[in-house]
Amino acid sequence: MSVTRAIAEANTNIALVKYWGKRDKQLNLPAVGSLSLTLEGLSTRTEVRFDSTLAADALTLNGDTAMGEPLRRISKFLDLVRMRAALSARAQVVSANNFPTAAGLASSASAFAALALAATRAAGLELTGAELSVLARRGSGSAARSIFGGFVHLHRGVRDDGDDCYAEEVGGATEWGVRLVVGVTSEGQKETLSTDGMQHTAETSPYYAQWIATSEPDLAAARKAVAARDLEALGVVTERSCLTMHASAMAARPAVVYFLGATIDGYRAVQTMRKGGLPAWFTCDAGPHVKVLTDAEHAEEISQKLAAVPGVLRTRVCVPGKGARLVEEQS
Ligand code: PMV
Repeated sequence: MSVTRAIAEANTNIALVKYWGKRDKQLNLPAVGSLSLTLEGLSTRTEVRFDSTLAADALTLNGDTAMGEPLRRISKFLDLVRMRAALSARAQVVSANNFPTAAGLASSASAFAALALAATRAAGLELTGAELSVLARRGSGSAARSIFGGFVHLHRGVRDDGDDCYAEEVGGATEWGVRLVVGVTSEGQKETLSTDGMQHTAETSPYYAQWIATSEPDLAAARKAVAARDLEALGVVTERSCLTMHASAMAARPAVVYFLGATIDGYRAVQTMRKGGLPAWFTCDAGPHVKVLTDAEHAEEISQKLAAVPGVLRTRVCVPGKGARLVEEQS
């Protein structure tokens, strides 16, 4: 009998310039590049134990045994690791998030980043950051970015095999003192998973081509803003990238709408804050939560104002976080 195990932790990330749509479904290659901020404290801890006596992969998610689609997705991902390591043993995966799963707080990002690191180390592999990012991307596009900390650029890449589609840290988030205030508006699971929502948008939305066309210039503007530490320029791009993405989804047939009433009220509150002189820019992912980009000096005030919006259940000020890290390994 042989057992090897590793535990890894990864933080989630929130895209400031969004990814929405795939150029290759099989390899999970994004149609556009994206830029995100990794957030400290919204994380997944995952243990992978390869055990030659196991008959099948098993998954425990947030304390419960998981079957069906979540297990199938993890097992498919583990096959990539097994193939690379020439390993046949099945694995026991134990994973837990410290925030709501699949409700727009990007749990798949931290989940597949933590899994990529834990599974490769448990399998005896030592991958570079870029290689881990390429692997994590196979689980979920946004996971490619959670391998790294701070501001992260996920390159679209042009190669058919996807090996140039990896994330890279672009730096400066910690020294600069950016903050992301999260306003949770729902405890429930989101109705349309991001993979389905973006596929349906690509197939049916008359605005999808326009969304794709705006993405590269937005990415270039965001990279420039990050390099110049220009929060306002970054905020303007952040808000328009999000709204353009959601507009393309809302124009799909039938529409894909992630916003709740509280999301729109949160957006309006952000507009009002800005009119009052606060540095605050709205973003929102494939879920109803409100996220506000700001700086360290104003984050608490913005958090309090956002918490006062009807339908916002609670708020949290997030600081830039580190990349995925190994917690423990044993062979
Ligand atoms: O990679 P996924 O399936 O987590 O999709 C991410 C989609 C968005 O969160 C809406 C945008 C993004 O770039 O993270």
